[in-house]
Amino acid sequence: MAYDSLRQFVQRLEQAGELRRIPIEVDPILEITEFADREMKSPGGGKALLFEKCRDAAFPLLINAFGSHWRMAWALGVEDVEEIARELEGLLKAKPPRSFREAIALLSTAMDLRYAKPIRVSSGPCQQVVMKAPDLRVLPIQKCWPLDAGRFITFPLVFTRDPDTGERNVGMYRMQVVDERTTFMHWQLHKTGARHWRRYCELKRRMPVAVCLGGDPVYTFAATAPLPDGMDELMLAGFLRKKRIELVRCVTHDLEVPADCDFVLEGYVDPSEPPEPEGPFGDHTGYYTLPEPYPKFHIERISHRADAIYPSTIVGIPPMEDFYMGTASVRIFLPVFKLTFNEIVDLALPAEGVFHNLVVVSIRKQFPYHAMKVMHGLWGMGQMMFTKIIIVVDDDVNVHNFSDVLFRLCANVDPARDIIFSKGPADVLDHATPELGFGSKMGIDATHKIPGEANTRRWPPLIRMDPAVKKRVDQLLQQLSASLSSPTPQSPR
Ligand SMILES: Cc1cc2nc3c(=O)[nH]c(=O)nc-3n(C[C@H](O)[C@H](O)[C@H](O)COP(=O)(O)O)c2cc1C
Repeated sequence: MAYDSLRQFVQRLEQAGELRRIPIEVDPILEITEFADREMKSPGGGKALLFEKCRDAAFPLLINAFGSHWRMAWALGVEDVEEIARELEGLLKAKPPRSFREAIALLSTAMDLRYAKPIRVSSGPCQQVVMKAPDLRVLPIQKCWPLDAGRFITFPLVFTRDPDTGERNVGMYRMQVVDERTTFMHWQLHKTGARHWRRYCELKRRMPVAVCLGGDPVYTFAATAPLPDGMDELMLAGFLRKKRIELVRCVTHDLEVPADCDFVLEGYVDPSEPPEPEGPFGDHTGYYTLPEPYPKFHIERISHRADAIYPSTIVGIPPMEDFYMGTASVRIFLPVFKLTFNEIVDLALPAEGVFHNLVVVSIRKQFPYHAMKVMHGLWGMGQMMFTKIIIVVDDDVNVHNFSDVLFRLCANVDPARDIIFSKGPADVLDHATPELGFGSKMGIDATHKIPGEANTRRWPPLIRMDPAVKKRVDQLLQQLSASLSSPTPQSPR
């Protein structure tokens, strides 16, 4: 199901009792964070919050709208993201690809044919009101944490284009406010927006950029999804919402943006302008990330819906709203992973690992050192390259049950034999790496060891009860509870 607007999604949340309106005035400087953090830390992710009166701002602010498994699923128009995973799996199984690259190509074709190539329309709600002079001060842009360098736009959908191929990219990169019409553009080294920018620098050409806020919530999710460079996030969005996305052309350049967005910021990044220090900001690592040079975004035009809502989030010590977004990505793309690694059964990225720090993967082990093959494979796949620690377990382990995982880790690992270290690109936000964007990786093989793996004695069986006995005790327990709850004694049989 597609939402015509962010407001329609808000209504859906409200009808389901998943939204709390905050009618009193609250300051976007720190106060909104404190409200939102308490909500995000409450069981199951709390509720979405709509701040109706933000101090010194002209628009309401929505936060934590994706912050539970079911709100995340509703944002994608389903009751459970597994529905999407199953659909993708079906599409991919129709003509099994032989490699990851082929899988991605097939995925693009399947999405393309079935649903949504965006269509161009001449006007849309996102251009209803045009600010006479662009002025970010009317937006309730938060300063999130006490030591932050200032305010930043937390949920921007950054539209850029590859200057050589014309391919579109939509990424989410935070935007620190410099003045009423300038922000930083925090596209990190490994991200597609940064690659586009480096190419514009080589060409010495001004880079057109459009930033959208809001609209169908599926766009916000798509901007964060770890799609391979070259695959259009809007195609994913169209596939998910099952309705073609209507695009309008920007006025100051020829980038196109979804017509139903709440805000559009049009502007450019100038390659001749040297990057300057951006940050520090409290980040998804749970720590502040220190200032690093990033380019500036100059805003030439701001337009918005007449009834626009400013969407926002916060990042910080987990769990936060972004955990639910990341989990949805993993669930949806697991079938694609499995095409390359058919031994993978399941995969979990626990909230405490803030995406990149910890991955637990269960496999159907088939040969000696199979776990190590999977570790290296994952480190070689897209944004999985940032993963610091990979734990591999057998297929009978529930990777989402950390007690189960820790038990196998402790029981099955001989550290000298089963832990390997590697090196590679790291999340540039990771303060623990010795160098920016580069660090070591650890793989832990917590699977049962089999003949052919060095220094392995005979491996004992795991303790399991006889299934017949389990069934019998189930019946006995039922009898027992029936007799305990029954007011009259059972007649002897
Ligand atoms: C709330 C949130 C904030 C994010 N902020 C940034 C950011 O400031 N810079 C960045 O490079 N990635 C950031 N990301 C991650 C990217 O959006 C993500 O890696 C995305 O896949 C990048 O898209 P790209 O590969 O098209 O560049 C953020 C993700 C979320 C969920």
